[in-house]
Amino acid sequence: MKKWTVAAFKAAKGRQKLGCCTAYDACFARLADEAGVPCLLVGDSMGMTMLGYETTLPVKMEETLSAVAAVARAAKNALVVADMPFGSYQCGDDSAMANAVACLKAGADAVKLEGGASVCGLIRRMTAAGIPVLAHVGMMPQSVNSYGGFKMQGKTREAATRVLADARAVAEAGAFAVTLECVPAELAAEITAALKIPTVGIGAGPVCDAQWLVMHDLLGLNEGHVPSFVKKYANLADEVKRAFSAYVSEVASGAFPVSG
Ligand code: KIV
Repeated sequence: MKKWTVAAFKAAKGRQKLGCCTAYDACFARLADEAGVPCLLVGDSMGMTMLGYETTLPVKMEETLSAVAAVARAAKNALVVADMPFGSYQCGDDSAMANAVACLKAGADAVKLEGGASVCGLIRRMTAAGIPVLAHVGMMPQSVNSYGGFKMQGKTREAATRVLADARAVAEAGAFAVTLECVPAELAAEITAALKIPTVGIGAGPVCDAQWLVMHDLLGLNEGHVPSFVKKYANLADEVKRAFSAYVSEVASGAFPVSG
């Protein structure tokens, strides 16, 4: 297997559909990488999957950098994308640049940030500085407080036109791909056809060039609310609990450890 680069990821559009997922630590990143996952996103969803928060908003830059470094050490072939946490690119373009640089120094191949037309200046500046950007439009979890919940976006024709305009704007600004989160499948198909760069859908139907799933959802590790579009490819929560409980029972009964 060859290392996935930003160029290879872009070139896959129309040739190969890519199943991508999140990763937050070296152990699972290595397993996903060895299984051939082409792109690992160190998502700010770690706030919910790993850190026990209700939203992605509390995730700190230090937490992202530590997770990016762990994933990058383990992933030999996957493209590693650092999801810039809330606050790391909203407080001025100079600090956003410094934070994006820190992501690449920690081992990421690219950064992801949420926003359409409003972040195009930043995307231009980052790409000009050699920092590849994966954009994110549609439902943007860092805007949960503005939406009043995690709600599908682009449902009316007017809202769909805004999402399409945002997607065109980030592509024009130099993003190498764009995430489409929780938008109607027909809108995702329209955007996918309109753009030269790959779309990476999550809850956006089957037509996107690539898909994201949150690793804890796809492995069945998340016992809380799972969005309806998710497919669980394993039920690891049950398996992990079975192993822990067998261990506790065997220590209590004396079956483990064995003497000698
Ligand atoms: O943080 C995350 O999990 C994401 C999704 C789009 C995959 O941003």
